[in-house]
Amino acid sequence: MTDTREQSRWLRLLSRGVVSVAIAAGLLAAPTARGQGQAQTQAPDPSDIAEGMRLYQQKGNCQACHGWAADGRKTDNQMPDGPNLRETRLNRSALVMTIKCGRLATQMPAFDKFAYSDGRCYGKKEADLKSYPTRMPDPPSTLQQREIELIADFLVAKVVGKGPMDHAKCLEYWGSDVEACRDFPK
Ligand code: HEC
Repeated sequence: MTDTREQSRWLRLLSRGVVSVAIAAGLLAAPTARGQGQAQTQAPDPSDIAEGMRLYQQKGNCQACHGWAADGRKTDNQMPDGPNLRETRLNRSALVMTIKCGRLATQMPAFDKFAYSDGRCYGKKEADLKSYPTRMPDPPSTLQQREIELIADFLVAKVVGKGPMDHAKCLEYWGSDVEACRDFPK
């Protein structure tokens, strides 16, 4: 008898404990969620923007079609004409989407490795691509989600809506008077 009473006392204590743990977790969860929301609206770190710029110029080779300044003066004559991204009206999430999925009716490649394997892009699969000019990047240079986000941050910070490139902007863009800046009169 005593045993059962002892047990049920423990069970009561235990269940009270569970409830208070749940409350504590709830209280803890709320500030964490707020914290994450804030982090997303914070301006990206300058080193992240620099990394995004490197990915744009090198791994993504976006410059081949869009130009190093993303102004549509492509660096590779053999490549299709990419539009001036300094004048794009796309917001950050539309930029991310365009880089991941490409543009079906155009030569803008899809940089997400799985863009056309599971229907995540416009509900299309690899076989559907045959009827569109868009392709996976060639040479193959798919980007991870994080890399695509970094490129979007770079575009928002240093390209979109910044007007035509000039000498002063070029110094700021590269962080020094690189050779490319000599194209622009001081
Ligand atoms: C093979 C050439 C090529 C490469 C490489 C390329 N693009 Fe494009 N991109 C295009 C073309 C062509 C379009 C025009 C699409 C259209 O007409 O809607 C375009 C469109 C875009 C747009 C949409 C602009 C708008 O205002 O609608 C964005 C953003 C963009 N590209 C970003 C990038 C980024 C970032 C990279 C590198 C990760 C990249 N592109 C690599 C050819 C290219």
